[in-house]
Amino acid sequence: MRDEIRRITEEEMARQRGFMRQVRFHPDRPHTYFIVTYGCQMNAHDSETLAGMLEDMGMTPAAERTQADIVLHNTCCIRDNAERKALGNVTWLKEIKRERPELMIGVCGCMIQQEEMAKKLLRQYPFIDLAFGTGNLYRMPEYLLEALENKERVIRVDREESTIAEGLPVRRESAIKAYINVMYGCNNYCSYCIVPYVRGRERSRRTEDVLLEAETLVKSGVKEIMLLGQNVNSYGLDSEEGVSFAQLLHRVSQTGIERIRFMTSHPKDLSDELIAEMASNPAIAPHLHLPVQSGNDRILHEMNRRYTVEHYLERVQALRRALPQIGLTTDLIVAFPGETEAEFQDTLSLVRQVRYDSAYTFIYSPRKGTRAAEMPGQIDPAVASERIERLIAVQEGITGEILAGMRGSVAQVLVEGASRRSAKQLTGKSGRNINVNFAGNEADIGKIIPVRITGAGSNTLRGEKEE
Ligand code: 5AD
Ligand code: SF4
Repeated sequence: MRDEIRRITEEEMARQRGFMRQVRFHPDRPHTYFIVTYGCQMNAHDSETLAGMLEDMGMTPAAERTQADIVLHNTCCIRDNAERKALGNVTWLKEIKRERPELMIGVCGCMIQQEEMAKKLLRQYPFIDLAFGTGNLYRMPEYLLEALENKERVIRVDREESTIAEGLPVRRESAIKAYINVMYGCNNYCSYCIVPYVRGRERSRRTEDVLLEAETLVKSGVKEIMLLGQNVNSYGLDSEEGVSFAQLLHRVSQTGIERIRFMTSHPKDLSDELIAEMASNPAIAPHLHLPVQSGNDRILHEMNRRYTVEHYLERVQALRRALPQIGLTTDLIVAFPGETEAEFQDTLSLVRQVRYDSAYTFIYSPRKGTRAAEMPGQIDPAVASERIERLIAVQEGITGEILAGMRGSVAQVLVEGASRRSAKQLTGKSGRNINVNFAGNEADIGKIIPVRITGAGSNTLRGEKEE
């Protein structure tokens, strides 16, 4: 079934703004909020929107979740442990609610978008006051008002995931770095992945909306923008505007933003046009997150990734030819159903060959409703743990070598603030997205400055400011 992509109308957004005003003046409304975020950057950015809406309703952030009048859990369901963690934390709050019955507990995000989960919450979690999915996040003010007016729990998971809502208030975590969504959803249906089911079909935002957001951010002093999408390389393919992702990057850079990052790129859609844009545009950071998942062709086929190891390596070569200094990172899954020891070793070989700066490594987790969950040959957890440990050890060795090799080079660091260790130490990220700590002063915060690398830890660099 191809459901229609629905752009939320200005009238509907005005209706939601009306609900925000009503909540603001409601005698029983919460005054302080706390948002617990799980999962990816998309969720982190959705939480910024939730915070923006709550603040428009007159609420202020609470220092601790135990002190807040409303706690929203913005959940993830990509792997079983993400789901268990969220449910565990929600259950833990039940005790606080026993002491403070006025505490509102909300659950939203990807986990809720699964039909069965909404039913489970209704049955087994009676202390949850508010629940909504990713597709109807923009209706949170309406649901909150309903819960306050009727003193009733509101659990809403309309099958509305294929929507685009513009103009929601956002409270950004950082004044230096900001996220912009360029597209939502995913059409790829990798056989292990739940995302297409909970985030809906691919839909691109209008170029003008993305550019307007970028311009506003630049004017407010933001130095780095990260463009977000489950598969940014297919930006624009669903629209009639005819703007490719490479062209979008180019136009975003014309706003004068100092640094641009983006994620995630699917290897099958990584175009020469994008590589050329990255190579010729100094605002685009020399880093690419290019999830490979496995180094074996049979497993890649079973995963429905639609590329081969050969194709992937060819893309890596093309990237490195065009940008010799580029840093690559990846996602890897071990113990996919049926993965043999030899097939796992192909992943180790690929990791050794590509030499990623770092990698996110995961044990395959069956997700209900996905094709892989029904596949034979689910791997024994002990074998899976042993494989991931070997993979992590190989990658840690490579990361260590790469970082050590950076000694003496000069990194362009966007300074984000004081390091956690010491107030005199500043910390920021290099173009390749590696943390760099160095001695500096507060005036450097928010600037991109050259830092000479003098040492390396297991995943951070140390340096000295270049005068
Ligand atoms: N099990 C394990 N890892 C998964 N990922 C996605 N789905 C699963 C799953 N079912 C990983 C992939 C993806 C990253 C965001 O999460 O590596 O790139
Ligand atoms: Fe999931 Fe594959 Fe889409 Fe990434 S590209 S979100 S792994 S289905």
